[in-house]
Formats: sequence, C-alpha cells, structure tokens
Amino acid sequence: MERENFGNRFGVLVAMAGSAIGLGNLWRFPYLVGSYGGAAFIFVYIFCVFLLCLPIFISEVIVGRRSRSNAYGAFKKLAPGTRWKWLGAVSVVTPIIVVSYYSVVGGWSVEYFFKSVTLDFTTGITRAEMGTMFGTFISSVWAPIIGHTIFLLLTAFIIVAGVKSGIEKFGKIMMPLLFVLIILIAIRAATLPGAGDGLKYLFKPDFSKIDATVCAAALGQAFFTLSLGVGTILTYGSYVSKKENIIASSTYTAVSDFLFAILASCAIMPAVFAFGLNPQEGPGLVFETLPFIFANMPLGWLAAILFFLALIVAALTSSISLYEVGVAYLVEERKYSRRGASVLVFLVAWILGILCSLSFGPLSDIRIFGQTIFNFFDKLSANVLMPVGGLLIVIFVGWAMKKNDVLDELTNGGTLKNRGISSFVLFLVRYVCPLAVIAVFLTAVIF
Ligand code: TRP
Repeated sequence: MERENFGNRFGVLVAMAGSAIGLGNLWRFPYLVGSYGGAAFIFVYIFCVFLLCLPIFISEVIVGRRSRSNAYGAFKKLAPGTRWKWLGAVSVVTPIIVVSYYSVVGGWSVEYFFKSVTLDFTTGITRAEMGTMFGTFISSVWAPIIGHTIFLLLTAFIIVAGVKSGIEKFGKIMMPLLFVLIILIAIRAATLPGAGDGLKYLFKPDFSKIDATVCAAALGQAFFTLSLGVGTILTYGSYVSKKENIIASSTYTAVSDFLFAILASCAIMPAVFAFGLNPQEGPGLVFETLPFIFANMPLGWLAAILFFLALIVAALTSSISLYEVGVAYLVEERKYSRRGASVLVFLVAWILGILCSLSFGPLSDIRIFGQTIFNFFDKLSANVLMPVGGLLIVIFVGWAMKKNDVLDELTNGGTLKNRGISSFVLFLVRYVCPLAVIAVFLTAVIF
C-alpha cells in the first residue's frame, strides 16, 4: 500500500502545530507561569524551546522522514540488528499511556464546554463553590468517563479518516480557528480594569526567581508542549515529503506553539490579576479559577463558551497525534487495517483512561510508587519517558546515524543551500542538547 504524505507545507505546519498546541499550552503553561514566577519562567522557557528542544524536534522529524516508517519500524530500518529497536518499542507504548490520561482531561473540557453552553457558570458563584464543583465532578464516576469517551471517540473518528483527509484536513480548519478564538479571549481579558498587573507579571522578568527547579520545570514543559520524546513527531515526520525543508517547518511549528502559549497566558493572567486572585493556583487554574472569572465578568458567558471550545479543539489535534503513533505501528508492522488498528488503540486507551479517571474518586486508594494512577501516568511520561526518549533520539541522530545522512535530510540532498545552519543544528544535536538535558535533570534531582 502506498504510504500517505501531508499535502503541502501548510499541511505539515497545521499537523505539527496541531500536535504541539494543546492542553500543554492552554492548561499547563499558564499555571506553570503562575507558579514559577511569571516572566522569569518565560525567559528560561524561550531558551529551552528554541535552543534545546527545537533541535530534538528536528531530530525526530529526520528519523521519521528518513525511514518513512512508524516509530518502531524507523529504528529497525535505520539501525538494523541493534538495540535501538527498544527505543522504538517504548516510543509506541508511551503515547498510548499519554493519550489515555490526556483524553481524561479532554473529557473535562467537553464537560465544561457543555456547562458553559448551558450557562452553568452564573454570576455570584464564589471561587470556593467553583472549586467544589470541579472536585465533585472529577471524583464522580460517570460524568468524567462519559466526557473521556466522547473525547476519545472524536479522536478516533479523525484518525480513521486517514492522514490527509483526517489529520491534515481537520488541522487546516481548526488551527486557524484556534488562533482566532484565543486572540478574542485575550482581547477581552486584557481590556478588563486592572488587567495591567497581569501583563506586567507576564512580561517584566524578576531574574532572581530563576533557580534549578524553575529550569527543570521550563525544560519539562518545553518537552511536553513540543510533543517530544515519545514518537509522535517522529511518526508525523514520516509523512513529511522529501521536498519539505525540515528546519524551516520545525521552526515555524515551534514559533506558533510559543506564540500560542503566550496568547493563552494573555487570555488568563490579566483576568486572574484583575480579579485579585492568586496566580499560583496550579492545575486548578483553568477549571476552577477561570470559570469563576467568566461567571463574574461582562460577556463572560461568551468567553467561557469560546474558551472551552478552544480547549477541546486544541486537545483534539494533539490527541490525534498521540493516537496515530499506535495506529501507524499496527498498520505497518502488524498488518492491521487502519480501522482495526484504530479500534484496538481505542479500546486500550479507553480502559486505561477509565482507570485514570476513577483514580480521582473510587480508585483513589490505589497507589503506584505513592501516586494515584492518573498522577503516576502523568509523572512517568512527563518526567521520565519524555526526557529520556528525547535524549536517546538526539544521541541516535547525532551519534548513531551517519553524519552525511543527517546533513542530507537537513539540506534535502544539498538542494536547499542551508549548509551553515544545518551544521549548526547538527552541533546542537550532538553536543548541546544531550549535555544540557542531562545537566538540567540531574540538577533537578539533586536539589
Ligand atoms: N504537545 C501537546 C500539548 O501541549 C501534547 C502532546 C501531544 C504530547 N503529543 C505529545 C505531549 C507527545 C508529549 C508527547 O498539549
């Protein structure tokens, strides 16, 4: 069977940016910015994204495009008979773990979208009541599982439609819509009385706040938001045509992802400050603080609908990228039909997701290394599997692959005339990324 490709450069960009831009930008980034000191965190984050993680992103695209294979097949093809295939195996399993808990949070977004459409966030509701509403909801049995199921089904429908008419087409409509939505909400937030303090918090760095924990958090977030280390970008990379400029497409993706994270913070922080709330809310920021703000601001009902719609769309374009890894593997290595593969991935992710969801309620006593199931999946993937996977990928591209093969991918066989920048990227991949990633994570463990 002929392998599918993304149609053109814009198609590559929306697919990649779709994977990158997700809950990581709208939910995780703003609360990390709030918890780790605002602008100073953003400052460190810029280095992490563009100097350390962009080269890792490029490396994943190289492995995918060079091999034209799924995450497992890629290593078998590029390094036959070596143990690198274990990295491939892990790269197929991890995204299924991620998609299962990601889809639970996607389900919360579905529920909160319905709540906002039915005008559940009403004036006069207090911040504490909003917290109770969220706590009751996630610890209940059925409602979150229904949300998770709806979200995962939506993901599966797009996947079944295929790479070009599913993933790419959905991205081409949804990604521009997403930017429009977030800009509208940011404008609404920035024009609230008292919003200025929030903007100052985001853009005026206090460098004394930077320490090892801040660096580790920034690097962790950069990994997460660029979907690194677990085979997603590798798999999408395998659908990039030989004519595309890898460095350019990857850089556009990183830039859009960064802009979107900043816009998301501009939609949230100014409102938090305008209402005199604490920016250090942590994970509850989007589902507790924000609905409270929406309930109490003029035109808030509309902002709420737009925001939760944006959250669903952003999460969907990311979850399809996670889902595709397993499907591509099953289709190419195990000879499944696309439909059959989608059903199998659905079932595994659905069941794991249900366990994650229940771990906020009835299963909260089940602990793995002291963590609830949801937290264990989250920590295991974000703190261990992603950084280690990313590290191994750069080592693979920098040291196991032939230097000329890598340069050949970066310059499209010398036709691109970007030899200088390509050598620079290779330098980052070989020396800077591995050392920096090891250093940051070791420091974080030691301190
Ligand atoms: N990058 C997405 C976000 O920011 C999430 C995501 C998609 C992801 N694919 C991934 C995270 C692979 C880690 C690994 O929400």
